[in-house]
Amino acid sequence: MSVIEQDRAKSKADWKVTMNPDDLYKNPMNIAWTFKYILSGDKVEDLYKRAKQNQWDSDEYLPWDTPVDPSKPMINDRSDMYHRMPFFSKLSKSQQETFTAHSTAQLLSQFLHGEQGALMTAACVTHSVPDATAKLYAATQTMDEARHVEVYARYCDKIAIVYPMSLWLKALIDATLKSDRYEKIMIGMNMIVEGLALGAFNNMYRTTQCELLKKLTFNVMRDESRHVSFGHAYLGPVIAKLPEDEVEDLADFAFQAVNILAHGGAGGTLASRVDPGFMQVLANCNIEPDDFFKGIEEAEAAGITQELPPGQIHSLKDLMLPALARVGLLTPTVRKKYDEAGIPVFEDPRVLEAMEGGHPVAA
Ligand SMILES: [Fe+2]
Ligand SMILES: [Fe+2]
Repeated sequence: MSVIEQDRAKSKADWKVTMNPDDLYKNPMNIAWTFKYILSGDKVEDLYKRAKQNQWDSDEYLPWDTPVDPSKPMINDRSDMYHRMPFFSKLSKSQQETFTAHSTAQLLSQFLHGEQGALMTAACVTHSVPDATAKLYAATQTMDEARHVEVYARYCDKIAIVYPMSLWLKALIDATLKSDRYEKIMIGMNMIVEGLALGAFNNMYRTTQCELLKKLTFNVMRDESRHVSFGHAYLGPVIAKLPEDEVEDLADFAFQAVNILAHGGAGGTLASRVDPGFMQVLANCNIEPDDFFKGIEEAEAAGITQELPPGQIHSLKDLMLPALARVGLLTPTVRKKYDEAGIPVFEDPRVLEAMEGGHPVAA
């Protein structure tokens, strides 16, 4: 029975009883009506038009009948960070293959759960943003994210495994969804989580050997490039008009979110001892956790995890921090906090700009 069929087989009553109380909470957001229906005629309207023109139906667009062997790695060995760790070469070939297959499944599961978070934040922006054009645009993003949940759920079903959501990713999206202003929702999602996603999708697109996953990721990435553009096009002018104390409040919110992310995994990977999903990956591959994390520490000490494989994007350095810098959220006050937290600040927007405008770097 597939993962989706197993879930379908569970009764709705059972699902309600087993729901985790942390997964149900209230958000303090204001809901904003607007009666000025005239569209803005600026870049946000262009993004809305582009979003309407670029809707796609995964039933028609993607080759779902492509066979996928869940036991085989879906990505190229040479571009996998773990393959560059000395510890990894000591594992047997079959252990390496099993680990690559499971760690990729764990990553794809984070894409799926993250997309659900994006669906909810986009809906939140739709009802809380006070501008008519931004509301219409956010509605298109809500549809985009629904499609992304659908396609990743279908792909995870093909590989027959869904790992739990990483705790740090849930903490990051929960902090965004629990925030009290639409600006914070957009900072948390359109700048930080989608910066993370755009980098991860680009890297997956470049490294996967599965034609279905490649095409799926490419189409999702095109949508995501619009979502990141929206964060800049709409929020930039809004922030420029805010009083200094409110800008500091938003800058501090952005720092707290980046800090959750920067300390989420070891060496820029999803590996974490406190992540039940990742520990499950190690257990499924018969890898001793102490040996694995010692291997990560050795690789970090040797500087191996600092360098990305060629052509890959570093989400924090290339996308998120330049996006925050561009809208004035790296204030002198908050830069001290980045410094104290050991997070280097990067402001070069070239990779970010190349990926916006519907022309991802990977294209
Ligand atoms: Fe998405
Ligand atoms: Fe998105």
